[in-house]
Amino acid sequence: MPANKPKFYLTTPIYYTNGLPHIGHTYSTIVCDTIRRYKRMRGYDVVMTTGTDEHGVNVERSAKKAGVPESEFVAKMAAEWRALWEELGVQGDEFIRTTDLKHAHTVQWLFKQCRDNGFVYPGHYTGQYCIYDNAYVDVKPGENCPDCGRPTETVTEANFYFKLSAFQKPLLDWYAKHPDFIQPEARRNEVLSFVEGGLRDLSITRTSIRWGIPVPGEEPHVFYVWFDALTAYLSAVGGPQYEKTGFWPANLHLVGKEIIRFHAVYWPAFLMAAGLPLPKQIWAHGWLLMDSAKMSKSLGNVVRPRPIVNVLGMDALRYYLLRETVFGQDGNFSYDALVQRYNSDLANGLGNLASRTAAMIERYFGNRVPAYSDPKIGDPHLIETQDLHLASDTSVLKEHVLRLYDALQFSRVLDFIWGHLAATDQYLTAEQPWALGDDAKSLQRKATVLYLAADALRSISLLAHPILPDATAKIWKLLGENGKIEEQDLDAVQWGRLAVGTQLGKSQALFPRIEKAEAIERIEAMEKEEQKQPSPVIAPVAKAASAPAAGGAAAAAAPATTEKIGIEDFAKVEMRVGQIKTAERIVGADKLLRKLRGVESDGMIVAATVGPEGRPVLAGFPDEDVEIGARLK
Ligand code: MSP
Repeated sequence: MPANKPKFYLTTPIYYTNGLPHIGHTYSTIVCDTIRRYKRMRGYDVVMTTGTDEHGVNVERSAKKAGVPESEFVAKMAAEWRALWEELGVQGDEFIRTTDLKHAHTVQWLFKQCRDNGFVYPGHYTGQYCIYDNAYVDVKPGENCPDCGRPTETVTEANFYFKLSAFQKPLLDWYAKHPDFIQPEARRNEVLSFVEGGLRDLSITRTSIRWGIPVPGEEPHVFYVWFDALTAYLSAVGGPQYEKTGFWPANLHLVGKEIIRFHAVYWPAFLMAAGLPLPKQIWAHGWLLMDSAKMSKSLGNVVRPRPIVNVLGMDALRYYLLRETVFGQDGNFSYDALVQRYNSDLANGLGNLASRTAAMIERYFGNRVPAYSDPKIGDPHLIETQDLHLASDTSVLKEHVLRLYDALQFSRVLDFIWGHLAATDQYLTAEQPWALGDDAKSLQRKATVLYLAADALRSISLLAHPILPDATAKIWKLLGENGKIEEQDLDAVQWGRLAVGTQLGKSQALFPRIEKAEAIERIEAMEKEEQKQPSPVIAPVAKAASAPAAGGAAAAAAPATTEKIGIEDFAKVEMRVGQIKTAERIVGADKLLRKLRGVESDGMIVAATVGPEGRPVLAGFPDEDVEIGARLK
């Protein structure tokens, strides 16, 4: 690869921290990770940014509900997102959090550039405000809050406006000059007609929110949602010092289609106003649907990635998401199709080709890659047309696959690779190396057939690596290759690169076959378990245990991810068996606090919540007669 590699910078959206990742988010991140791996294997110096969008009223509310400060809430949620991406084999280079100091500096700096250039002015924002939810809602005066159904009030607050209206013509000129700026075509048309319809100035600060980046010298103004969030792409690669890192402008912002407008209209306008270079391309993919509706937390139809990964492995999820959905369009998610794909394409397809080829090389050639018959040095009659076809198909395959990766047509990439895999399987079935005898001629034929199959497996693994990092790395080792598969050059894929005489590695089941009903049952059971778990910040164990006689039922249900406490801390808590004789409702309170509406709380009870309606159940000793007052140890 060239010493001076070209740079490539790509980003996922930065995800909200008031929820945990579902496979819709996972889809965006996996696509980005695939591109990242692909570009690396094409000789680029790649940086991929992902991260978390941590400000705003929703976080303020969620933190309040969890009874923890916002900073603690977002830190735990961000850690969850980051951990999940690692489990999925995502090689993010930068994980930007909008609460990072360097991000705050970048936002403040960008604002100053825009303001100094005359594109920011003070004004007032008027909107319908829900005093119960503490948020502006998108309804007309007199209408109720769409979230809680209660009346809204018309509120006016001081803010700063960004002169988006001044960018209608510059944006239209930019789109015309850069026809590939917005992809796919349908999204480009949507954005074009939006901008052609005229742009209204944009409120970019708020005084009604506390949890945000302060506008310097203009407190209590804080930056509002998109001016803050979009700037994360720049903060991750140097912020004001972006020229030093050399990774700005971004080559690709990958987003879901619902946020295309912010990326293709607001973001380039902010950058133009600040005099900064614009990203090269914005690609909006479609949605993963569940029963024909967008998978989303608010609809309650989400599927979590972990149970799938635990049962089928991360490659199975990556393969399924990229194979089943035509990139750019919506795709339906179904467990049935997922397990079907796993069994047919991975277990019976790739896994089977790898294990049968390796097993025969082990049996017939002492586990060393056999020498094929080269027409120049061996017996030319031992080379058949079908051998030549299989070999030369590799270069055709490579050409197609690289072109399709460049066009982000992942399902077609996999179609082509799996076509070659099927051809290799058929070749083995037709040539039947296992049925050949042990005479010199038959042995030589056997060697040629197995060499070609193993060599095809090598090319297939290289080309599929960006999508199936785990299994292909294992096949790489199985083929006795040195070095890391992710460091190979895809341009060098060519038949005949498998070195003759190489000792093969140990064979292992890559994708053990699994019965469909059993797989789905296991995934769904884990999914249910996960959904029962409170969010990682609802019950911080260390706090609940060291604050004597305080808390509520939530303290009993701590997830495994929270901090562990030592025995000394545990010993500080006095837990005794008790008997409830009477219970009284405290008006207006749904959980116990230490001093609550004038009523002192001197203890807590241990309980769990059961079922979707959260029915409280007290912990007890139903099978033993334990004395009242006995101390728990
Ligand atoms: N924080 C903003 C983005 C700021 S970017 C500067 C945000 N966050 S989000 O958590 O709601 O994530 C949205 C992104 O997650 C979508 O754009 C998309 O990439 C992904 N998806 C969320 N649900 C999805 C589906 N059901 N299907 C596919 N992708 C989806 O918006």
